[in-house]
Amino acid sequence: MTNAAITGWGKCLPPAVLSNRDLATLMDTSDDWIVSRTGIRERRISHVTLGDLAYVASARALAAAGLQGSEIDLIVFGTCSHEDQVPNMASGVQLRIGAATAAAMDINTACTSFLYGLSCATALIRTGVVRNALVIGAELISPFMDWTDRDVAVLFGDGAAAVVLTATTREEGLLAEQLGCYADARETLRVHGMGGRYANRGILYGSVRWQFEGQEIFKRAVHGMGAASESALGKLGLKAEDVNLAVPHQANLRIIEAVAKRTRVPLDRVYINIQRYGNMSAATVPVALCEALEEGRVKPGALLLMPGFGGGLSYCAHVVRWGERTSPRGETKVDLPPNERSALQIVRDVMEAKKVLTNQEPS
Ligand SMILES: CC(C)(COP(=O)(O)OP(=O)(O)OC[C@H]1O[C@@H](n2cnc3c(N)ncnc32)[C@H](O)[C@@H]1OP(=O)(O)O)[C@@H](O)C(=O)NCCC(=O)NCCS
Repeated sequence: MTNAAITGWGKCLPPAVLSNRDLATLMDTSDDWIVSRTGIRERRISHVTLGDLAYVASARALAAAGLQGSEIDLIVFGTCSHEDQVPNMASGVQLRIGAATAAAMDINTACTSFLYGLSCATALIRTGVVRNALVIGAELISPFMDWTDRDVAVLFGDGAAAVVLTATTREEGLLAEQLGCYADARETLRVHGMGGRYANRGILYGSVRWQFEGQEIFKRAVHGMGAASESALGKLGLKAEDVNLAVPHQANLRIIEAVAKRTRVPLDRVYINIQRYGNMSAATVPVALCEALEEGRVKPGALLLMPGFGGGLSYCAHVVRWGERTSPRGETKVDLPPNERSALQIVRDVMEAKKVLTNQEPS
């Protein structure tokens, strides 16, 4: 049987750091509240485009795999913060990495987009349609944030990461997953103003309002990720004790703790980096995977559990068997252009631009 081993990985975090104290200068919130309710201490705000973040992450993942862009047959770009609906994001990465003969598609299941992308790319490798695939999870949330709404503005950040999948006959890569969606709760998370629904309704693209029921999302997240984890492990006849490391979606530290308790994976076997980045939606799991590798938390042959949750309300859990190699084959000089503005200044610039936009809205 053909599997899809993860042979390369790379992340790209924009350098500008927005602290909780910075946020408290914009809205009625505090470092204490944010840390105690979410575990988040800071997040990154990008000075470049989503395509730039994803390209750098992809170049690093290719170098780690020791592959050229021209060897990639498929690019799957998981995101919900596209630059445009047409052309898609994946084709932009294809052009920049020189994957001239690749297929390129985007997937949007919000925060689970990377994991859903991992499922699609793995399936296409298993069936022999492609041999090498690049799967990206990247988000640029900051321009779509309502920076006057403390219910959501404290939770999210920008970032990107990518993995390279390669066909193998070994028992490696994604072995089993459970995918699902609580469509009945889709209205608990809606970002008004991000799509075509608003054409002719007097709402301009980019002028956003977040409809967000935090507590209901919290409950569904714990339930969905817990049930999906049990189900995915069950398909392989495995249990929580077989998991060497859980790399969950990072939306709220309390959600991660509750999922760990429910799945009975002890917290010392759960990778957590939400304190540094907040919720980067589709980028959280692949960035966490990269950092777990950098920190030596992923051992050769490790069994990884990756539960995810996002708008939709989509949920999933993926069980991955790591290969023998836990260090990159190579590195690249590709990097972001330098940044001159502070994160707070970038946010203030977004707010100013939105004010101009709002003033143009028909009354
Ligand atoms: C959003 C979330 C952090 C809120 O935590 P919570 O414990 O449910 O907090 P509540 O909404 O009950 O708010 C408690 C109080 O804090 C206040 N509050 C809300 N946001 C605040 C902020 N940023 N700073 C200070 N106070 C805040 C509320 O107004 C409320 O005040 P009140 O008691 O006077 O009414 C939590 O529900 C959550 O993480 N949900 C999951 C959401 C998510 O990550 N979704 C993304 C999809 S993957």
